[in-house]
Amino acid sequence: MTEQRTPLVEMRNISISFGGIHAVDNASVDLYPGEVVALLGHNGAGKSTLIKILSGAYRRDEGEILINGEPADISNPRDAKKYGIETIYQTLAVADNVDAAANLYLGRELRTPWGTLDDVAMEAKAREVMGRLNPNFQRFKEPVKALSGGQRQSVAIARAILFNARILIMDEPTAALGPQETAQVGELIKQLKREGIGIFLISHDIHDVFDLADRVSVMKNGQVVGHARTEDVTKDEVLGMIIMGKVPAKATPGPGAMQMA
Ligand SMILES: Nc1ncnc2c1ncn2[C@@H]1O[C@H](COP(=O)(O)OP(=O)(O)OP(=O)(O)O)[C@@H](O)[C@H]1O
Ligand SMILES: [Mg+2]
Repeated sequence: MTEQRTPLVEMRNISISFGGIHAVDNASVDLYPGEVVALLGHNGAGKSTLIKILSGAYRRDEGEILINGEPADISNPRDAKKYGIETIYQTLAVADNVDAAANLYLGRELRTPWGTLDDVAMEAKAREVMGRLNPNFQRFKEPVKALSGGQRQSVAIARAILFNARILIMDEPTAALGPQETAQVGELIKQLKREGIGIFLISHDIHDVFDLADRVSVMKNGQVVGHARTEDVTKDEVLGMIIMGKVPAKATPGPGAMQMA
């Protein structure tokens, strides 16, 4: 169904080496509007490296990136933001000592015509964006360090979408959260999907992301093992892809798929 539309992101035949190690080797992944794609694989599989190429943190050695069907020139994080790509790292980049509104506008503060900080406008916008994402959030006057992990996560996401992110990369978003907060992040992700944002969810733990994902792409030793719709495969089958590179019948194999003898 989604296949007739133009993908938001296509990464084609991407490779990068660090001193002879193929961290990412001929990897292709794509992402459609309103879709969640889980990028799975063991520690060191190449997930973060692949996604850092999309976010402009690393420059690829080979391959191409298309955004909305057009070749994209992404050489640094600034380029990536220009294409609407925002990343939320595992170590949440929020400033603990200031409130949600200040975090949303950190480094991009709104100012009055007199050059002073426009706190009123920033708080109003913060309430609007946070209200959309997390209607229960009321703690606008408190420093972010007083918030729960899930609330902090919503501040980080609000910051990304405030600046019109169309493509959101979340690297291990729930790794540090308890069950209730993980559920809260799940709700946030559903809201972002409804707004047509595409999300790459990176995890080494399938249980964290399987229920949230529309599709999975599995990596192993820098290569893509395969892709599958979550409705077509079981968790055990995806585990087989992660551990052995074994691709089930309803999945699409990649260059890293186990070769049948
Ligand atoms: N800057 C770098 N310099 C040298 N080697 C690197 C660099 N970044 C990643 N690597 C290597 O590339 C490979 C892939 O690492 P990467 O961090 O992408 O894995 P990952 O799938 O994100 O793993 P994890 O689940 O542990 O986060 C590893 O062998 C890693 O040691
Ligand atoms: Mg990683």
